Amino acid sequence: MFDEKVKLVILLGAPGAGKGTQAERIAAKYNLKHLSTGDLLRAEIENSTELGKSAQAYMNVGKLVPDDVILKMVETYFSRHADCGILLDGFPRTIAQAEGLARFTVGRNILTLSIDVEADAVIERLSSRRSCKVCKKIYNLALPTYPPDERCECGGELYQRDDDKPETIRNRLAVYDAQTMPLIEFYRNQGFLHRIPGSGSPDDVWTKVQGAIG
Ligand code: AP5
Ligand code: MG
Repeated sequence: MFDEKVKLVILLGAPGAGKGTQAERIAAKYNLKHLSTGDLLRAEIENSTELGKSAQAYMNVGKLVPDDVILKMVETYFSRHADCGILLDGFPRTIAQAEGLARFTVGRNILTLSIDVEADAVIERLSSRRSCKVCKKIYNLALPTYPPDERCECGGELYQRDDDKPETIRNRLAVYDAQTMPLIEFYRNQGFLHRIPGSGSPDDVWTKVQGAIG
């Protein structure tokens, strides 16, 4: 059951499962700060920081950025938002990250959601994804909500992410199976995992997500 006391929602799911799409809605409805480690890393790349330069080499080939780098980034975010409810999108991704997270989230109530989608569907979704350069809103060429003028609702230009190339997508899916899937068992053992079938339209999935949150 999700109520005002719940302070931390963890959103798991393969690349392209729809984490970012649902995260935007969850954060708005339940008044949570949305922390996407992928978005933070892409901002570092855009700003040409040292962290961004080293992360880019991993991201371009679909590998995970090292745990210590990610944990430091997330811990800083938590220390800046100590009193806020937080929604995690794309973190944790390894057992080491989940153990690190547990060390600095003591006292928070945790709910974990996993959006489950078949590999074929995620490959299709990622190949036709477009994102806004300015506000980062997520679109898809195959959905009826795709803007005919190819501009975001904020007016920003849409672009295709560098890691949405077929070869990189395949690597990201293999990395997910090997390094992130074990988290399903990790959180199931802690008793607060909800698995959500990610098939159907974004609105269908949103109905299931709200049902799981309660
Ligand atoms: P990250 O940015 O987190 O990417 P990801 O996990 O690969 O997931 P995506 O953002 O690609 O997919 P999504 O599940 O958010 O789906 P979306 O909603 O966009 O990470 C990128 C890289 O950064 C990693 O590979 C790694 O290198 C690094 N990194 C990040 N975090 C890290 C960490 N913790 N540790 C180490 N390294 C890290 O939807 C996809 C498309 O489908 C969109 O076009 C959308 O419109 C569409 N769509 C959504 N829902 C539906 C639906 N129900 N039906 C049809 N289409 C749909
Ligand atoms: Mg995402």
